[in-house]
Amino acid sequence: MQNILVTGGAGFIGSHFIRYLLREYPSYKIVNLDALRYSGNLDNLRDIEGDPRYTFVQGDICDAEKVDEVMGEHEIDALVNFAAETHVDRSLMEAGSFIQTDVYGTYILLEAARKYQVERYHQVSTDEVYGQVLEGSSLETDPLLTRSPYAASKAGADLMCHAYFVSFNIPVTITRGSNNIGPYQYPEKVIPLFITNAIDDLPLPLYGDGRQMRDYQYVSDHCEGIDVVLHRGQPGEVYNLGTEVETFNIDMARMILKLLGKPESLIQHVRDRPGHDRRYSLNCDKIKALGWRSRHTFEQALEKTVQWYVDNEWWWRKIKSGEYMEYYSRQYEGR
Ligand code: DAU
Repeated sequence: MQNILVTGGAGFIGSHFIRYLLREYPSYKIVNLDALRYSGNLDNLRDIEGDPRYTFVQGDICDAEKVDEVMGEHEIDALVNFAAETHVDRSLMEAGSFIQTDVYGTYILLEAARKYQVERYHQVSTDEVYGQVLEGSSLETDPLLTRSPYAASKAGADLMCHAYFVSFNIPVTITRGSNNIGPYQYPEKVIPLFITNAIDDLPLPLYGDGRQMRDYQYVSDHCEGIDVVLHRGQPGEVYNLGTEVETFNIDMARMILKLLGKPESLIQHVRDRPGHDRRYSLNCDKIKALGWRSRHTFEQALEKTVQWYVDNEWWWRKIKSGEYMEYYSRQYEGR
């Protein structure tokens, strides 16, 4: 494995993963294929732009010709797919682009993996494919009981990966990660949204009773987990990837306000997300058996994340305008 195609590498997790690979594997060459849609942002990669081992190509994973060209030209021997529409609330407004990018785009990449006989195709998936887990924790063998169009599209992609492993022997691995937090996360996701609103003394729109739970992991821990599976995981296998610690949304909101020295009166309960999954919970024994451990507690991860947004207003202030504000008012007005 030397020439790695990272798709969706201008997004939040993908950009961290590229930086991580360049640091950990000095001989690797990385090609980043990203369509630069609303949440793809080359500012996320500013510090590595001039690295001779890194190439950026603008393009859509649904564009078979473009994917083929990149695979051939750069002699790609491994592919890691981060490219996806990822925001649950947007999938409730419009599901078509999720099916297109997440399912059809994955199929295009799998076809390319098949043609170029890659050593590994890795699919970055999500704990949301299991559906809500009111008690206990999900195992990799549990059924996929998705409840949002976003989760259903990711589950479709997982199943397509499995089909390509069985039918064509493509060496596919899948990680199903819990919620990520850290620098460069687009501020539609709850943690950067709450941090940046709190900095500006704006309300924190908390859905429903705020007693939904999420396992928030630090993005660099997630990248390490993907790396472990990419290099040591078994083809055809799925690996859950999270901290195994869940936090209530209301507690997360209070912690952010405390870190920023802002009053709890900024929390505003708003109408709940339709079909809101109350809890996800992963059993991560399988990836731990490969030697991976999460390095950050939620408190440490949150503290670092809050500090980054305080120090990097240049990054998020320009995002919070234009398309973002249109989405924000459609999503939150009258709620
Ligand atoms: O679990 C992994 C998943 O985490 C990823 O697959 C998704 O791509 C990612 O978007 C995330 O999904 P969530 O729906 O859990 O993330 P989000 O940040 O949208 O919401 C986290 C929790 O906060 C959830 O219980 C809904 C709640 N929430 C969210 C927003 C945006 C609020 O209370 N208010 C909000 O304004």
